[in-house]
Amino acid sequence: MARRRQIYEGKAKILYEGPEPGTLIQYFKDDATAFNAQKKGTISGKGVLNNRISEHIFTMLGAIGVPTHFIRRLNMREQLIRQVEIVPIEVVIRNVAAGSISKRLGIEEGTQLPRTIIEYYYKDDALGDPMVSDEHIACFGWASQDEMHDIADMAIRVNDFLTGLFAGVGIKLIDFKLEFGRLWENDFSRVILADEISPDGCRLWDSQTNEKLDKDRFRRDLGGEVEAYQEVARRLGLMPEGENAVLDMETHRRKRGR
Ligand code: TMP
Repeated sequence: MARRRQIYEGKAKILYEGPEPGTLIQYFKDDATAFNAQKKGTISGKGVLNNRISEHIFTMLGAIGVPTHFIRRLNMREQLIRQVEIVPIEVVIRNVAAGSISKRLGIEEGTQLPRTIIEYYYKDDALGDPMVSDEHIACFGWASQDEMHDIADMAIRVNDFLTGLFAGVGIKLIDFKLEFGRLWENDFSRVILADEISPDGCRLWDSQTNEKLDKDRFRRDLGGEVEAYQEVARRLGLMPEGENAVLDMETHRRKRGR
């Protein structure tokens, strides 16, 4: 494959220059980190699954009118996306208490929240992504009031859609993280959904058993990470029944040295 210019390398993805101006290629790695990269590992096959799951979700969100950076999937680990200027805010939407909110406020994991909560975290690894409020975001100019209005609006629409999508396949959407980016058109910009939506950035519990089908399996050393991600893909109808053809294909190619 011809060498491409690398634009950015994150913890779970790499961005390369795209084929046309204004596009990028988003490559999904198998690397996994937790607790601000204090814990590191690899989940073999995760990148393939997240690429496919995120493609599926972004395509459906596009179809209901949520603007996203997704253009199309290129191959098992890569997708073509629109280049955006990432808003330095991680948007977390919570339906049920788990993780940091449970710890911080002493709420038992699994407690249904009386209403959906949106939280914002300033994207800065050196600071450990501190939680911030609308006031901080406005004060330091990380996003405008109009942008934050659009972001909160989209976050709620995504939550409503995903809650239903997952409920339909026996999964509870506990919480998840979104990122947004600015798309510039001449002198104007609008915010669109960026990054990915996959079990890396969502808490997904089996509706019947509350079994964790997400990155908490890695964070908490529960094991069975790739099986959990596969199960999410399978329930979404993204895996051929009864076999792991997508992953088997890649292992097969790797062994043949392609
Ligand atoms: P938290 O309970 O640790 O704050 O996480 C809330 C949700 O956000 C959970 O689904 C995992 C996701 N998340 C990320 O995707 N990236 C992060 O850096 C953090 C802290 C959380």
